[in-house]
Amino acid sequence: MRFATIGTSWITDAFIEGAKIAGGLELAAVYSRSEETGKNFSAKYGNVPVFTDLERLAKSDIIDAVYIASPNVYHYPQSRLFLENGKHVLCEKPATVTPKQMEELIELANKNNLVYMEAIMMRYLPARKTVHQALGKLGNIHTARFDFSQLSSKYPEYKAGSLPNIFNPAMATGCLMDLGIYCVYAAVDFFGHPKKITATSGFLKSGADGYGTAIFDYDDKQVTLTYSKLGQSYLGSEILGDKGTLKINSISRLSGITLIENTDSGQQTTQLVGDIPKPELMSGEAAAFRKFASNPDGFKGKIEEAARQALMVSEIMEKIRKMAGINFPAEISLIK
Ligand SMILES: NC(=O)c1ccc[n+]([C@@H]2O[C@H](COP(=O)([O-])OP(=O)(O)OC[C@H]3O[C@@H](n4cnc5c(N)ncnc54)[C@H](OP(=O)(O)O)[C@@H]3O)[C@@H](O)[C@H]2O)c1
Repeated sequence: MRFATIGTSWITDAFIEGAKIAGGLELAAVYSRSEETGKNFSAKYGNVPVFTDLERLAKSDIIDAVYIASPNVYHYPQSRLFLENGKHVLCEKPATVTPKQMEELIELANKNNLVYMEAIMMRYLPARKTVHQALGKLGNIHTARFDFSQLSSKYPEYKAGSLPNIFNPAMATGCLMDLGIYCVYAAVDFFGHPKKITATSGFLKSGADGYGTAIFDYDDKQVTLTYSKLGQSYLGSEILGDKGTLKINSISRLSGITLIENTDSGQQTTQLVGDIPKPELMSGEAAAFRKFASNPDGFKGKIEEAARQALMVSEIMEKIRKMAGINFPAEISLIK
């Protein structure tokens, strides 16, 4: 499958490396707003053609699919453009700003027999199954804590007076959209839709949320989600049961996973998953995307399952945003 990329930052490099590992994916074109940036990027990958006109790329017959890694606010219009032109779309998280946008794109993809998928690596890693299996060993689970607190490399820039995209509400970014989404995915994937959501956030002067907490109440458990871009945590995440505890060092990568089981003679500790390099992490989603796009009818169930979950996460994210007061400029909601 021939694909193009949108965005020329490190995450696109990581995806291309992941696609190489996955196999069956060929980088066929690169988009950049600037010819020079595009050419420099493309030079790393055999000088594939560079496009600076997005519409030309979407209409081009040299690609079958696109990987989108632009700032969040552009995800919806860019995904729509490619789906309208018969191209499969793998879009970075969060794939849309609002659930309404996501619903529209899922419908459009279905109508055109195309795959529209959110690039959320944890869904497509073998470690996801490992966690689900380990949950069965924890006994009754009443408490879980999911944390993604990572000091942003862009924070010094922000403090020095610049406004990087990640702290610019006009880009529909901020901590929840960037890091919190992984905690939401984990909660939804492991425990389903919460019964009640409570959320609060702390804000930078730019208006972007810099950190926050959400509490998900279920019938029999409470899950706490914490996220920050203004400080680094080394604690990781934990799922607590009455027969054991699962420790997950990285909730976004589902790596560094340890099972601690309570036995009559004390605790028994088993390392389930070690550290995994980033390109390898992204190869799972790349492989799933290639597989789904090569046979949308054959993988209808899997594609629908992913879309249902992405939509549920998007709806929950919108609830958190409303409750915590995370607002993006009005024109973003006008994009629908
Ligand atoms: N899965 C992961 O682990 C992971 C990690 C990091 C980021 N992400 C996601 O990837 C996406 C991009 O994040 P990022 O941190 O790479 O963003 P970024 O550096 O701000 O922008 C990404 C690319 O978009 C283009 N761009 C930048 N500013 C733009 C603007 N104002 N208007 C239009 N295009 C612009 C640039 O490409 P050109 O200059 O070449 O046009 C840039 O290379 C986000 O959705 C983020 O959530 C995912």
